Amino acid sequence: MQNLVDTSDLSEQQIQNILTDAKSFKQQLPTALLRDKLLITLFFENSTRTRSSFEVAAKRLGAMVVHLDPSRSSTNKGESLHDTFENLCAMEPDGVIIRHEYNNTPRKLADKGLTSILNAGAGNYAHPTQALLDYFTMVEHFGDVRGKTIAIVGDVVSSRVASSGIRLFVRMGMRVVLVAPGPFMPDNDLEKFEHLEEIIDEVDIIMSLRAQLERHKAPIFEDYDEYAREYCINKERLGERDVLLLHPGPVMRNIDISDEMLEDPRCKVLEQVKNGVFVRMAILKCLLLDA
Ligand code: NCD
Repeated sequence: MQNLVDTSDLSEQQIQNILTDAKSFKQQLPTALLRDKLLITLFFENSTRTRSSFEVAAKRLGAMVVHLDPSRSSTNKGESLHDTFENLCAMEPDGVIIRHEYNNTPRKLADKGLTSILNAGAGNYAHPTQALLDYFTMVEHFGDVRGKTIAIVGDVVSSRVASSGIRLFVRMGMRVVLVAPGPFMPDNDLEKFEHLEEIIDEVDIIMSLRAQLERHKAPIFEDYDEYAREYCINKERLGERDVLLLHPGPVMRNIDISDEMLEDPRCKVLEQVKNGVFVRMAILKCLLLDA
């Protein structure tokens, strides 16, 4: 039984297979490879893209999907997460797709060995399927991304998309630089810049991130318009540069990315969402069929 708690759970070969399968699924939808499989989704935090993308991916492959809404479950009657999980596992699903506020929840559940765990976002630590779909989107555009420079811009310290992405992109030979104001900057040994202007001429890809207000214990900026003046990705800042623009969503318009840039062909936000389905199909095949 294989889990996907972070991309380190996958071998190089499995990552390559996921890219190859996602590309072929994008060209032609496959037959119902997961016809007899049952997946349960368990999302303790809000989600628009990730939950629906997993469901679409699973159903495109013929699997059955059952959602448990924790706000309407016995968690509200005082049942612990571990008991809820073990009860769900008694129904013999082939995998549980979980999103949770704590960094270590997916690993703890995976360690029980009851079913395959697919991490759909845990705390500020990991969001492996987002990292893989972002990687796929870059590879699709550039062919080879080894040696390319990606600037991750915004609330890096709160972002599981950034932390999972950093680990995967560095592993795949990319140069990752961080651009953020002090309070949004994590403590690690990557190159860091306070202003995008300092590094923009060396950048091939910009990944813009949302300020994760719900994870800040106290408000960090009084005024996000002021933040936007420095960090919003707009046409003025980007000029005519040949840069790919990514964002995991939800985009805070005119704070993270300007309305105008969202319409620009260099902006791949909706392509990321489209690719997310094919990449999650490939991940489900990898975990539930090939492993
Ligand atoms: C993100 C998340 O929840 O980690 N969204 C996503 O899954 N695509 C990022 C965010 O909420 O800002």
